[in-house]
Amino acid sequence: MSKPATICRVSAPAIRSRKGGTPLVCLTAYSAPMARMLDEVVDLMLVGDSLGMVLYGMDSTLGVSLDMMINHGKAVMRGSERACVIVDMPFGTTEESREVAFRNAARVMRETGCSGVKIEGGREMAETIGFLVSRGIPVMGHIGLKPQSVNTLGGYRARGRSDTEAQTILDDAVAIAEAGAFAIVVEGVIEDIARSITETIDIPTIGIGASEACDGQILVTEDMIGVFGDKVPKFVERFGDVAGETRAAVNAYADAVRQRSFPGHHNLFKLNRQREIAR
Ligand code: KIV
Repeated sequence: MSKPATICRVSAPAIRSRKGGTPLVCLTAYSAPMARMLDEVVDLMLVGDSLGMVLYGMDSTLGVSLDMMINHGKAVMRGSERACVIVDMPFGTTEESREVAFRNAARVMRETGCSGVKIEGGREMAETIGFLVSRGIPVMGHIGLKPQSVNTLGGYRARGRSDTEAQTILDDAVAIAEAGAFAIVVEGVIEDIARSITETIDIPTIGIGASEACDGQILVTEDMIGVFGDKVPKFVERFGDVAGETRAAVNAYADAVRQRSFPGHHNLFKLNRQREIAR
C-alpha cells in the first residue's frame, strides 16, 4: 500500500519567494474550526493580537498576553496542515531588548509549532528582527498604522498623509526588509506610500487598508465575513453576512424549541438493536 502523501506547510521562505507574483491571500485565524475552513484557500493565516478586540471585547490590543497568543496559536496549528501560520508578538514582549524578544518568540515557536512570528514596529525594531532571524526565527514586520502604538500615535487614523510621515514609513519598511524580515504588513497607509514601499523593498508587502498596490492582502476574517454587521473600518469589504445568518438561525432555533418541533424524532437516542434482540 502506498503511503499517503505528506502535506507540507507553506514556509516563510516560500511566502518571501512570492514577491511580485500572484497576490498573497492572507487572513486572521484564532481557532481550530476557523483554521480548518481557511486552510485550503489561504497562503498565510495570522494569529493576530486583534483577537483581544474581536474575541475578548477589549478596547485595544494592549491587554493581550503571550499566553493568550500561544493558546490560540496552538488551536490554529491543530486546525490546519497546509497554510503558513504566523503568530503575533503581543505588546510588551519584544520592545525591552532583543534577548527578551528572542526568549518570548522562541517560546511561541516551540509551544505552538508555528512558522514564524509578527513584530509590530519600524526602524526601532530592526536590530531585534535581525537578531531573531539570524537565530532561526522567521519574522514578519508590521508598519504604518501600528495598533500597539495607539497611545503614542493618538488613534487609529491612516498614516502617511504628510511628506515627513510618508518618508518615515518608507524608511521603516527598508530597515525591516534589510534586517531580514520575510514579509511585511503595511497597515492603513495611503496608496502612493504602499506603492513606493512595494516597489522599493524586495520582500512581499501584505496590505490592510493599503490599496491593491501591495504584493498581498490581509483582513481580519470576522470583519470580512460580516460578524460585526456594518461596524467595520472603511478599508474592509464584507464578503458575507455571518451576523445576519446567525440571527436567523438563533430565531429559527428559538421558534422550534417554543413550538416543540425540536428535538425531532431523528434527534432522539434509540434502544440499541443488540439489547432489543437480547430481551
Ligand atoms: O492583529 C492582527 O490581526 C493584525 C492584522 C490586522 C494585520 O495585525
